[in-house]
Amino acid sequence: MRAKVLGVPSPLAVGFEITHRCNLRCSYCDRNRRLSHEMSLGEILEALGGLRRLGMCALSLDGGEPLVHEDIDTVVRWLSDHGVLLRINTNGVLIGRHTDAIRHMSKVKISLDGPPSVHDAVRGQGSFWRAVRGALMARDLGCKVEFTCVVGPHNLGHVDDLLGIAQRLGLEVVFQPLRGSLVRSATREPTPLDDRIRDLFRRIEAFKTAGAPVGNRWSSLKHFRGWPDDTPLPCAAGWINATLDPEGNLFACAQTDRTGIKNNVIELGAEEAFRRLCRSGCRQCWCARVVEENYAWGCRADAFLPPRAAAGGAS
Ligand SMILES: C[S@@+](CC[C@H](N)C(=O)[O-])C[C@H]1O[C@@H](n2cnc3c(N)ncnc32)[C@H](O)[C@@H]1O
Ligand code: SF4
Ligand code: SF4
Repeated sequence: MRAKVLGVPSPLAVGFEITHRCNLRCSYCDRNRRLSHEMSLGEILEALGGLRRLGMCALSLDGGEPLVHEDIDTVVRWLSDHGVLLRINTNGVLIGRHTDAIRHMSKVKISLDGPPSVHDAVRGQGSFWRAVRGALMARDLGCKVEFTCVVGPHNLGHVDDLLGIAQRLGLEVVFQPLRGSLVRSATREPTPLDDRIRDLFRRIEAFKTAGAPVGNRWSSLKHFRGWPDDTPLPCAAGWINATLDPEGNLFACAQTDRTGIKNNVIELGAEEAFRRLCRSGCRQCWCARVVEENYAWGCRADAFLPPRAAAGGAS
């Protein structure tokens, strides 16, 4: 809370896109190609060491697919040895080959876009069952596991099927909206589908109220009711959060438009790269867990109440 109370920023929680390479080619994703100057193992540990000295105590592995990185096991061991709390975002396919690394995760978040036919249409034949097998394996290793589902035209009518599957597996699903791009501008043009997405998030709220395994907190569900209209919210990006890309560039948030931006930890040092971050936030917060952390960071207790209690019965 030093960042909040004293106004001194510190990268307590870092998102690390260790590689943008991926073993899948999901139809809506544009963060799945190798960047030309990926850091070497030595540079990765140097960058992480710098962030650790600045206060990093939690790190979420992301990608691309983090488990395709040849040094993932070594990097995880290093982070664990340095007392960093670890999470991973993964498509789940390679979990069986990295059980030693997975064991160190406090949470494993596996993407699941719908029932088998829907998931495989977006992510490739056979990927649904490989994701589910990965989820069960991670659970058997003792990790907390949740599914992440990006909601868009590909799965609008299949959310109840997915919740039924999750219920049978005893796992929760966290929902968040599809964006036009993961690496370009945050601005989003309205589309004719937007009303249906908003309606769907209201239905997801109702499913949660009825006891379905919806992993979102109320705060992110309420936030997504208005998607994609701009919604102001407290933003911890650059204050306690930062995102490191495979080349060592540091951003306040994964949502930053990266076109032409370099802010390299290896060239500048972690302290200077972190100092240079933009801390002005945006109004298009879309990642459910980040939205929830932002409302918590802003001490917005009202956002965490169930819809009826928060709105005095009006919602
Ligand atoms: C980029 S992936 C990286 C981790 C891993 N490869 C996976 O698929 O979970 C992280 C999350 O971003 C989501 N994603 C990919 N493209 C997206 C987009 N255009 N809009 C919103 N989410 C997207 C994926 O569905 C996944 O849940
Ligand atoms: S969403 Fe994940 S698994 Fe799919 S292509 Fe993108 S990085 Fe790969
Ligand atoms: S408000 Fe915008 S900048 Fe802040 S965490 Fe959310 S997406 Fe990132």
